Amino acid sequence: MKMHETEIEVKSPDGKSTLLLSGDKNSISVAHLEADQGVKFEATVDLQSGMPALEGLHHFLQGVVDPNSLTPITSQRLTNLGHRSKQPMRRLSGAFLTTMHVLLTSAEYTNFTYDLWSTSKKYLAHTTAMVTRSTPEEIQTYIEEAEQDETLHQHIRDMTAALPDHVRAGSDDEIRFGRRLGWYAVVRAIKPKFIIETGLDKGLGAVLLCAALKRNAEEGKPGRYLGTDINPDAGYLLAPPYDEFGSIAVGDSLESLSTVTDEIDVFVNDSDHSEDYEAAEYACIAPRLSDDAVVIGDNAHTTSKLVGFAEESGRKFLYWQEKPADHWYPGGGIGFAFR
Ligand SMILES: C[S@@+](CC[C@H](N)C(=O)[O-])C[C@H]1O[C@@H](n2cnc3c(N)ncnc32)[C@H](O)[C@@H]1O
Repeated sequence: MKMHETEIEVKSPDGKSTLLLSGDKNSISVAHLEADQGVKFEATVDLQSGMPALEGLHHFLQGVVDPNSLTPITSQRLTNLGHRSKQPMRRLSGAFLTTMHVLLTSAEYTNFTYDLWSTSKKYLAHTTAMVTRSTPEEIQTYIEEAEQDETLHQHIRDMTAALPDHVRAGSDDEIRFGRRLGWYAVVRAIKPKFIIETGLDKGLGAVLLCAALKRNAEEGKPGRYLGTDINPDAGYLLAPPYDEFGSIAVGDSLESLSTVTDEIDVFVNDSDHSEDYEAAEYACIAPRLSDDAVVIGDNAHTTSKLVGFAEESGRKFLYWQEKPADHWYPGGGIGFAFR
């Protein structure tokens, strides 16, 4: 095996077999080693040409296939294997390198953040414009406003720097809003009086939504935010001056939502991601939604509860699929239920 810049060794619990992954900018290799038999299988992909050399594959096949027993068609299929593996191996090698990049440059282990692929952002602008009856250009302006809000970015950096070490260890300094940019644009476009977000984690969505409310207030269209989370430590990014526009209710979201009496203009579901819980949140807030309310689901890439809610409550539904740039996570999305 060639020497590579990056090597990962994964041993089986009994220590008898090892998976060796190695790669550099030109190629990646995967090798399977057994303690008593040496290399069992080894494959190398040349990233420039995308052609797999599949060194050792013929030895592997020799062990399981009797060449005399092959029909012409099976023989042809085996010959085609190298060519057929070109595309998927290329994809696999790309995913491997992206994964290595994220593992080495990000400390996050949950609720991953990333930038959006530029075309995905454009699709977001068009989808959000349809939901809010505005133009893609207007939505694009709001997206850029959030991305370029240096005061907000500095606030997040300062709050992150002040975290205790054990929390800080799982956070990145870089600020990447991902699909939350769509939430921000909705709030900027429709100027809601009351927003609810269930599930806060660090409070990235919370502080971004309140930054939108801050801008709306400066334009004479004030509104307020309520965040709910079962974890009393969640939402720490929602601090002065942004907490002037919102507050946090600690406790189970369904319990907190059941006490809400005001009309809700924007609802963001992002707490317990089980299907039943998501549906229960929509059912709970349904009687409180204003006529033109926008309901945003952060679970629509995995469940059909929001589209079901839209159908039952006479609302339209749109789904936008997020596509992260440079991250192994395939992306979530935004489900919109609206009138
Ligand atoms: C995916 S995170 C939320 C991410 C956040 N919206 C953001 O913008 O980064 C999910 C959050 O839901 C909270 N959660 C889970 N079950 C809950 C429940 N039953 N009631 C309230 N919060 C809950 C978790 O504590 C966690 O902070």
